[in-house]
Parts: sequence; C-alpha cells; structure tokens
Amino acid sequence: MLNNKAILVIGGINMDFVVKAERVPKPGETLIGSDFSIIPGGKGANQAVCIARLRGKAILGGCLGKDQLGQQLKSGLEKEGVITDYISMDEKEHSGVTMIIINKDGDNSIVLDPGANMKFSPERASSLEKILPRVSIVLSQLEIPVETIDFIFNKAKKIGITTILDAGPAKPLPPSLLSNTDILSPNQTELESLLKRRITNVEQAKNEAEKLLEWGIKTVILKLGDKGSYLLTAKEKLYFPAFKVTPVDTTAAGDAFMGALCLSLTQNKPLPQAIEFANLAGAYTVTKMGAQPSLPTLEEIEKMRSKIR
Ligand code: RIB
Repeated sequence: MLNNKAILVIGGINMDFVVKAERVPKPGETLIGSDFSIIPGGKGANQAVCIARLRGKAILGGCLGKDQLGQQLKSGLEKEGVITDYISMDEKEHSGVTMIIINKDGDNSIVLDPGANMKFSPERASSLEKILPRVSIVLSQLEIPVETIDFIFNKAKKIGITTILDAGPAKPLPPSLLSNTDILSPNQTELESLLKRRITNVEQAKNEAEKLLEWGIKTVILKLGDKGSYLLTAKEKLYFPAFKVTPVDTTAAGDAFMGALCLSLTQNKPLPQAIEFANLAGAYTVTKMGAQPSLPTLEEIEKMRSKIR
C-alpha cells in the first residue's frame, strides 16, 4: 500500500497519434510522412509511468473519457504499476488526444485536444485530499485545469509536502499557484511565455530565469533540451550539460526528466545529484520513439551511465 515515499502526479493522460515527416507542413501543403503509430502519452501519465519504471510508487490523478481510448490508457497505466484509483472517467468528453509530427531531427510538434483532461475539476480532485498525508511530493504540469493544480498544491503545502510544477504546456500561472510551488521547471519556450519575452540562447535563458526568483519561486530548474539543464536558487546557480545522444524522438524527454527528478528526491538525493539522474533519464528517452515506450527502467539508466563514463 501507500507509504510516505509515494509521489502523487496530477496531470494529462492522452493517446498520441504520431507520424514522422521531413518537417512540419506549411499551410495548405500535404507532405508524405511515415511510421504512423498510436502511442500512450500525456505529460502526467508519462511522468507517472517513468516513476513506476524506476521502481517508485506513483499515484496518478486525472480524467479520461469513458471511451475505448480511455479504457486502453487506464489499463496500460495499471500494467505499468501506476496507481489509477484516482482517475475519473467522464461520461461526456472524449479522452485526451494529440497529433504529433516528428521531424528528421527527432524534434516534435504537438497539437493537443485535452478533452476529458479539462474535466479534472477541483471537485473531482478532492478525493485525493485524504491520501496527501501519505505522499512526499506532488508533481503536476499544465494539461489539466490550473484551478485544480492550485487546489491540490494549496492542500499539499498546508501539510508540508513538496510541490513541483512542470510549466508545460505554457499557460499564465496565477499568483496563488506560484506561491504554493516549491520547484518550477519550464523549458525555454515556456520560460519565454511566462516572462512574455523572446529568449534566443542559453545564457539569456539563465539570466531571465532570475525573474522567477523575484516572483517568489525558491527553486527553478530550466530544462534546456540538448543544451542541458540549469538549477537556480537564491544560493545556487548550477549548469548541467546534456549527455550527448543521437536523437530519434524528443517526445517525453521532459517528462522522463521530471519523473526521474522526483524519484531521486524521494530517495533524499541532493538536488544536483537528482538533476544529473534526471538528465540521464531525459537523454535515454530521446534515443527511442514515442512517449511511454521510450521511458527508461533503472537498469537502462545505469547501463547508459556506464557507457557515458
Ligand atoms: O510531453 C510529451 C507529451 O505531451 C505527449 O505524450 C503528448 O501527449 C503531450 O501531452
């Protein structure tokens, strides 16, 4: 059963419809693609599966449609060992879906129709309140209503639980949510959107991220893709270069990073060590196609670490 090392992930659960193409088509253009596949994804689900594959205890809160995709996604999560008791099935909305194009460099372009994800209301999430005393971290992203994240983070902070927010997909964040977030983790695009300014390089991203400290966020972790990651607190400024890999598909690399980071933190690893582990998990994910199929096990991360050393 649950122990105080469990990680509660609240977030999006989607089915990804993926094709490979040379590039994203221009308006009015039809391109011939290849390798069509239907793959379980969603930022919340990916993060929960990553934690479970790394032998952590992940509880996932979210909402699916009461449809075939919803049933498929839920049973896939159960097979991965994710606790799914707090996933609602909405009668009217379809399950979350995405259309993803992977270009020749392995970069993805995603359109998300969140469907039932947006029905994960604070009322639905309130059943999670009773398990909060048994979790050590609450992790979320922004594929579910911001009010729900705000509601759960507020309850979590009242009893001293660490709250971690992945700032994707980019959305404005209300002050109440910012004040209840211990660690905020945007990528470069999300940082641009939060600060409403264009950021063109890593040095600028590192400097601009200081604004988030001024907003009251105590810990910022920038995810900079193949440029690595950056930890920023009032006391520390630490840059972590990325591990060099040949990219196949970058989808879910950020989710692997967040899941692995949380798992490491529940093992009481210091932040820099947790970020190094998270970087490895993210790098591994980039070498495989798809969201959930590309998430690493502990053995796969260790194998990769030994090759890199
Ligand atoms: O972060 C990757 C995920 O973002 C995909 O699995 C897709 O579902 C979108 O939510």
